[in-house]
Amino acid sequence: NQKSIWVGTNWKMNKGPAEAIADARALAFFRPPEGVRCFLAPPATSLRDVGAVLQDSPLMVGAQNMYWEDNGAWTGEISAPMIAECGASIVVLGHSERRQHFGETDWTVNLKVRAALRHGLRPLICIGDTLDEYEFGVSQETLARQTKIALHGVSQEDLERVLVVYEPVWAIGSAGRPAEPAFVSQIHTTLRGVVKEIAMQGSSVRIPLLYGGSVSRGNIRDYVALPDVDGVLIGRAGWNPADFMDLVESVR
Ligand code: G3H
Repeated sequence: NQKSIWVGTNWKMNKGPAEAIADARALAFFRPPEGVRCFLAPPATSLRDVGAVLQDSPLMVGAQNMYWEDNGAWTGEISAPMIAECGASIVVLGHSERRQHFGETDWTVNLKVRAALRHGLRPLICIGDTLDEYEFGVSQETLARQTKIALHGVSQEDLERVLVVYEPVWAIGSAGRPAEPAFVSQIHTTLRGVVKEIAMQGSSVRIPLLYGGSVSRGNIRDYVALPDVDGVLIGRAGWNPADFMDLVESVR
């Protein structure tokens, strides 16, 4: 009776359509170990092609962002129904790179979460503390606030399709350092309490809580072994298909 483990990779702004298709083809016949659920999030320009290549694969495809309106005069944006039509089933929302550089707030994340759920997508909500918040010891407060606002107004039924990923801003990218598993464990136990409070009393919904930030072949098992960690979101270490398959196989 092992817990399911989620392993996903966010390609960020990397790979044009040709490379994205080639990489998706390299992953198309991959079968993750029992109980491991995998996804990849290519750039929007490759969503449809990657969705088509992975149509019969157990790998799920996700978008990296979306707008909360379905259509209209919102130049440059893409919507939940468009993402769903491309064959994607997941959408990454509120990534810290979007919060830092593109003005994403807890409130816009909430609007996006609700729009994604309305269109049958699974929102993967990213939350994270900055280095200042971490050093001042207020990580828990920030993460609880981000989670509560993101999930405000979400029905009990829809909560079953939500995923949350804790990505410390100070742990992401080549300038970051991976968070200590003991610290992640503490944070996730608190988050488990926060999401339980949001789910109805007596509800058995277990919202998958993932970790992300400098996950590598050397530390992935340390994270997924933690009782309140249900998986990982990988950046750099998962961009190469062979490395991604190796990472996925290493968790079981
Ligand atoms: O979405 C993925 C994260 O931002 C982690 O990126 O594994 O390259 O640190 P990273």
